[in-house]
Amino acid sequence: MAFKSIQGTTWCLVLVLSVTILMNSCLVMARRSIDKMNVIDKCWRTNTNWRSHRHQLAQCSVGYTGKMTNNIGSDVTNYKVTDPSDDPLNPKLGTLRYATTSIAGKVWITFEKDMNIKLAKPLLVSSFTTIDGRGANIHIASGGCLVLQRVTNVIIHGIRIHDCKPQGPGPVMGPNKNIVHLGPSDGDAIRMITSSKIWIDHNTLYDCQDGLIDVTRGSTNITISNNWFRFQDKVMLLGHDDGYLRDKNMKVTVAFNYFGPRCHQRMPRIRFGYAHVVNNLYKGWGIYAIGGTMSPSLKSQANLFIAPQQGNKEVTWQNQKNYNFKSVNDIFENGASFRESPDNGVALRPNYTPDQIFEVADARSVRDSTKSAGALRCPRTSTC
Ligand SMILES: *[C@@H]1O[C@H](CO)[C@@H](O)[C@H](O)[C@H]1NC(C)=O
Repeated sequence: MAFKSIQGTTWCLVLVLSVTILMNSCLVMARRSIDKMNVIDKCWRTNTNWRSHRHQLAQCSVGYTGKMTNNIGSDVTNYKVTDPSDDPLNPKLGTLRYATTSIAGKVWITFEKDMNIKLAKPLLVSSFTTIDGRGANIHIASGGCLVLQRVTNVIIHGIRIHDCKPQGPGPVMGPNKNIVHLGPSDGDAIRMITSSKIWIDHNTLYDCQDGLIDVTRGSTNITISNNWFRFQDKVMLLGHDDGYLRDKNMKVTVAFNYFGPRCHQRMPRIRFGYAHVVNNLYKGWGIYAIGGTMSPSLKSQANLFIAPQQGNKEVTWQNQKNYNFKSVNDIFENGASFRESPDNGVALRPNYTPDQIFEVADARSVRDSTKSAGALRCPRTSTC
């Protein structure tokens, strides 16, 4: 009997020890994956109960958009999209278009289930609107896509936007239930027109007729972070056209994004304004990665540029002498090169305000910190 109980105790000890070791290694692994997260993700993805605290996300933005705290508070309407259909002029209750145009004040939009939304016309999004795709697999595809026209305080998070098609002109429902007569559009995934304080985070964007993101006509204070851009010729345009001088004031932060495979050019292309391009991963390019005209300013900081096997190894493109491109602590692989401006560039500071500033990570961490770029899979029972 005594022998048996000693044996029992031993087994018990072994069991307790193994469980302790296992739990410890789980904790260490979890901590490691947290360590590898970038500053935005670390701010909310570590919360296992994120579903009950969705609004926490608004406090996690960095860069020129600042914190998105105007989008939260006790006066927010939480609205769940239940119906993937679309009627551009008479949006039905429960549809995305109803949510983005017909609810007064702050709106936080989530989705009841996975959805493929084919928009019959471009979707106008009101100010103080958050589109939060977390927890559902949401595609906006094969039709019209997103237009942010004269709006502020918008968050677009966790959506897959692709195969956007050009649209003819015509009326659509706009903010405050006002009918807006839209001109023709080229088929961009997200187009900003005279808009500010816009945060585009963790979206997967690909294969659109024109470009993936357009920042135009005096739009500014924008952060484009954690997105996955792929299969696209013209990826991102910052600055409307060579005659639109108001874009001199444009300020855009491009951070923690994953570009590739098969992105050809404009990651981004900058006109007039200032772009802080930081901690992104570039998996090859076609013509170039970052370009600009009309005295653009760029601080390229701690990115990982992996040149394509064949073709152009040069990251930059510019067709005038008058530009200010500076590379600071970038890493170049596969023979990638970066042409700074003739005077070797002045590293223009972003001059962030306290709610915009963030710690730039070492370029060696970019492989890990961009691994989960794009719309996240957020299973029912665990963290995102
Ligand atoms: C952009 O952000 C800065 C700093 O917060 C602010 O002073 C400025 O008014 C903003 N510009 C626009 C057009 O919203």
